[in-house]
Amino acid sequence: MANLHLLLWAWLIHSAFANVEKTIFVAPAAEPPPQDASIDSLLLTRLSEQHPLARTFLNASFPTADSPKGVETWFLLEGLRPQRRYEVRICWLATQPTSFWLYTQTVQKAFETPELLTSLSAYSYARRGQLGAREKQSLQLRKADSVARDSTFLFLQVFAAADYFSLNETLMAMVPPIAVDVILDPYILNVFPKSLLPTGLYLLLIATGAWFLSGWISHLLSVTPLAGPAEETKKGK
Ligand SMILES: *[C@@H]1O[C@H](CO)[C@@H](O)[C@H](O)[C@H]1NC(C)=O
Ligand SMILES: *[C@@H]1O[C@H](CO)[C@@H](O)[C@H](O)[C@H]1NC(C)=O
Repeated sequence: MANLHLLLWAWLIHSAFANVEKTIFVAPAAEPPPQDASIDSLLLTRLSEQHPLARTFLNASFPTADSPKGVETWFLLEGLRPQRRYEVRICWLATQPTSFWLYTQTVQKAFETPELLTSLSAYSYARRGQLGAREKQSLQLRKADSVARDSTFLFLQVFAAADYFSLNETLMAMVPPIAVDVILDPYILNVFPKSLLPTGLYLLLIATGAWFLSGWISHLLSVTPLAGPAEETKKGK
C-alpha cells in the first residue's frame, strides 16, 4: 500500500513537471527605473514578485535555417531584488508539442546588441498591432505600480519551436499559438523555489519517516539472533 502510494506520488510529480522548461538566474545589481519611457513603450507582458504568473499564447513556428529555435517572444521581469536567485518556468500542454528556450538579458545588453535589439523591436511592433486598446490601457495601468527604487529589471527572451509531425496539412502549414503559463519564482534563501515549498516539506517528511523506519528495522535485526552463527559455519567450510 505504501509502495503504491509512493509510486503514484512519483508519477504525479513527474507528469506535473513533464512539460516544463525553465531558466535559473541571479538578479544583477540594482538599476534605477529608467527615466524615459523606452521600456514602457515596448508594451511587453510584465512579471514581478507581485504578479508572478502570465497566462498567455505564444507564437511558434517550425525551425528553419534562419531561425532554428522558432519564434521569439519577449517579457519584462521587473522589481527583481539584486543578487536574489529566481527561476522562470514555462508550462504548456502535452497536446501541443513544442520546444522552448529561455534566456534572460540585461536591459543594457539588449539595447546594445544589434540582433537582440532588432528582435525586441520587431516583437514590440507586432505586439502593438495585435493588442486591443483595452490591453494597452491595462499595461499602462500596470506601469503605475510603484517599483522599488533598489530593484532591477531583466528581459526574458523565449524561443518557441513546434515539435510535431501531423498528416493534417493545416497544422503543418501554420503552427497554432501555444497556450502557456509563464511563472516567475523567487528562491527562498537562494536555494529553494518558493512555489515548490509544499513539495519540499512533503519530501522532508518522507525522508524523516524513512529514517526512523530504517532505524527501527535495523534495531529489530540486531536484536533478533537471525541465522548469524549458521552464516559463520558456512563460511568456515
Ligand atoms: C503572432 O502570429 C500572428 C499570426 O501569424 C501575427 O499576426 C502576430 O503579429 C504575431 N504576434 C507577435 C507578437 O509576433
Ligand atoms: C486540421 O487541423 C485544423 C486545426 O486544428 C482543424 O480545424 C481541421 O479540422 C483539421 N483537418 C483535418 C482534415 O483533420
